[in-house]
Amino acid sequence: MAGSDAQSKFYLTTPIYYVNDVPHIGHAYTTVAADTVARYERLRGRDVYFLTGTDEHGLKVERSAQRQGTTPQALADRVVERYRSLWERLEISFDDFIRTTEDRHAAGVRKLWELLEGEGAIYKGVYEGWYNVSDEAYVPESQVVDGCDAESGEPLERVQEESYFFRLSAYRDALVEHIQSHPEFIQPENFRKEILSFLDQGLKDLSISRTTFTWGVTVPGDPDHVIYVWIDALTNYISALGYGSENEDLYSRYWPADLHLIGKDILRFHAVYWPALLMAAGLPLPGCIFAHGWWTKEGQKMSKSKGNVLDPFALTDYYGTDQVRYFLLREVPFGQDGDFSDAAMVRRANEDLANDLGNLLNRTLSMQRKYLGDQVRLPAVETEEDADLKVHVDGLPSAFEEHMDNLRFHRALEAVFEVVRRGNLYVDETAPWVLNKEGNRERLAVVLANLVECVRVVNLHLWPVMPEACDRMFAQMGYTLEGVNLDRDGLWGARPEVLTVTKPKPVFQKVTEPET
Ligand code: MSP
Repeated sequence: MAGSDAQSKFYLTTPIYYVNDVPHIGHAYTTVAADTVARYERLRGRDVYFLTGTDEHGLKVERSAQRQGTTPQALADRVVERYRSLWERLEISFDDFIRTTEDRHAAGVRKLWELLEGEGAIYKGVYEGWYNVSDEAYVPESQVVDGCDAESGEPLERVQEESYFFRLSAYRDALVEHIQSHPEFIQPENFRKEILSFLDQGLKDLSISRTTFTWGVTVPGDPDHVIYVWIDALTNYISALGYGSENEDLYSRYWPADLHLIGKDILRFHAVYWPALLMAAGLPLPGCIFAHGWWTKEGQKMSKSKGNVLDPFALTDYYGTDQVRYFLLREVPFGQDGDFSDAAMVRRANEDLANDLGNLLNRTLSMQRKYLGDQVRLPAVETEEDADLKVHVDGLPSAFEEHMDNLRFHRALEAVFEVVRRGNLYVDETAPWVLNKEGNRERLAVVLANLVECVRVVNLHLWPVMPEACDRMFAQMGYTLEGVNLDRDGLWGARPEVLTVTKPKPVFQKVTEPET
């Protein structure tokens, strides 16, 4: 993130996903964004730790298992495999995958609980009110209309039972102070404002245990109580680092997180409950909580009942993994809501990838091999066109960094494709086929070397978004990422003296809209 030291550690997380149902495009979105950040930071030489996982406890999962005639553990064991194979399909380079049913996780949850208890932040009482099982959230009376949650429309359940409470109300002022003095803490800005105005209304203490179901981690010393699933889930961010275990080395090295990436639907849990819990326990707070928007499909909210839920497996089968990754990050400003349509997906895949980028590489490599053979020498500046191409390439690293550091993926990608377009224009300006006819091999070698350099720098920047496609393009260019550092090698001319290119093979196929 902004102002970061390229040598330092970088710990980032995705939400852990419920296992009540199979993954959909919304889950893929957060995870692809996180993977892109992780790859980008690694490519710059940072010590990255990237965590994802599954949220397996709670009523929602328990009920879902009951409906399916199975146990929650069996359901979790089945669905977690879908997540794992989706992350493999989507080229997600996580360092750890935590499941909340693992012992290492329960140890962290219990340790945090005991710490909170020791600090006097927990007390016993009775909870009477409403509960939204679908969101696993307590809902205030003011938000209830005809027994349903006015925000989500979900049916609510009336709860009256003994419960432990967390003294959330005591942390309101400290939270406001922290958010105000750390403007980067909650992003984008509109969500920061939303949380501040939520805090303005004051905070009630939070019920953090239940006695009417069993699927969860029990309260230390009081096994009739199961710890509230959100307390359980949020703790994954530290339990995965060994917090509460015999070896807390990873915790010491990586905590606090630099970035929690989440969807806007779970902002309050991350920007209010989680920091308050950490404050109460005397643990450091994460550096940034960044919330992204919601995807719709052709203008409609995705839902099972409408049958319009986008299946990430089907989508990547049809369009290709890197095409989908590119689309998700290029099409919509991160932080805002976005709409998926096949028309838009096809446009991005064909125009940006197959035409602009794919053709640039193909024609460059074909001409190189046809006119000069497979050896490409270093780029050089001889003419005004060369100088202008170099200016564009040289401008990319800083523009890209500025956008990536603020998670403006769409702007970072826009900057890359501006250079691609400049490269294509350079082909037209220099007309290598004319130089070839004239027998001007000296000039031809410079022009083609400059084009290869343009594509190399472009690909280095695109790699975090489309790793597999970029690896394939690099292989054709005789270039390898081994030992490469983006900050050092992402500059014009920062490459081996000679590259040996191979026969070009289109990396991006043209696609059409699926027939419905
Ligand atoms: N288990 C909790 C998170 C606990 S984190 C300590 C949870 N899980 S979830 O399976 O419901 O996944 C929620 C996440 O999925 C959202 O934060 C968001 O990242 C993503 N999305 C789910 N549907 C989405 C869309 N339609 N569009 C974009 N992202 C959405 O909540």
